[in-house]
Amino acid sequence: MFIVKSNYITNVSSAEMVVKVFREIQSEDFRILNIIESAMSNREYVPTEQIQKFAKLPLERVQFTLDKLHKLGLIYRTKGAYVGYTLNYAGYDCLAINNLVKANVIESFGQILGVGKEADVYDALSPTGQRIAVKFHRLGRISFRQTRRKRGYAREHTTWLFQSHIAAEREFQAMQLVYKNGVSVPEPISHNRHVIAMGMIEGAELSKYIEIGKPEKVLKEILRNIRKAYLKAHVIHSDISEYNIILKPDGHILIIDWPQYVMADHANAEELLERDLKNILSFFNRRFSLKVVAEKACDYVTGKVRNLVI
Ligand SMILES: Nc1ncnc2c1ncn2[C@@H]1O[C@H](COP(=O)(O)OP(=O)(O)O)[C@@H](O)[C@H]1O
Ligand SMILES: [Mg+2]
Repeated sequence: MFIVKSNYITNVSSAEMVVKVFREIQSEDFRILNIIESAMSNREYVPTEQIQKFAKLPLERVQFTLDKLHKLGLIYRTKGAYVGYTLNYAGYDCLAINNLVKANVIESFGQILGVGKEADVYDALSPTGQRIAVKFHRLGRISFRQTRRKRGYAREHTTWLFQSHIAAEREFQAMQLVYKNGVSVPEPISHNRHVIAMGMIEGAELSKYIEIGKPEKVLKEILRNIRKAYLKAHVIHSDISEYNIILKPDGHILIIDWPQYVMADHANAEELLERDLKNILSFFNRRFSLKVVAEKACDYVTGKVRNLVI
């Protein structure tokens, strides 16, 4: 079996391409995309006949739509023992965007805000003119096995799309939990499939700052938030680093990128919390020559002591 990839607009990243083709997609096209998506839970490539059966439309109409979707770069076609179709990230993006547009979450897209290891984040506007950030999870950029080892939630035969869906769901859950407990995170607004809409933040990752005014103050704020997440929401981030902390122009921080979170009663909770603390402490030591003993930070974050003196 081999995959024939459509080569329509290959040079732009998927979400940008999707924003371009989005207006060309009609309700019948969405219907076919939806059918492929549902049938993909049983088999990776959905045969044309099966799509037609669910669509209850004449074969020529279904074939016409499939050709259109394929040309727009939203589905992959396989020609092996049978002709079958499967959604790619662009097709999946379309379904999620359509849902978020219908739910009055997104009105229009702007610039790309960040390309991370496993996600693309875009600037967007809500129908009321609020600036929001839209995060598209893109698992599969690093190798499958590596991710499986790293993450507890990957099921044996699920595809990358479904895993990205689960990652977004998890991240949204974690953000809601910590947000309502007053932890500094972007406001979680909505999610659909592998996509999350959240409050837009100005600023840059901590890793980009060569110098900051008062590193003690920033580190204390980070630790205060890790403590709050742990003691009040019982959530451990598990992927804390200088890349997942945004320092805003007002000098305050926000913690982003939560899909790897675990609850405080997780078997490896202690280890993961310690790793988070060590990551951030070693960054402050390296970059700003600020030394804080990990044990001291740990006692503070876990509530053994009330205050952290650094
Ligand atoms: N709410 C937001 N507002 C502005 N930029 C954001 C927001 N969330 C993420 N970003 C940008 O996108 C990048 C990638 O997001 P992140 O959640 O860390 O995903 P990844 O798993 O790809 O690292 C971040 O480093 C940041 O620059
Ligand atoms: Mg990140």
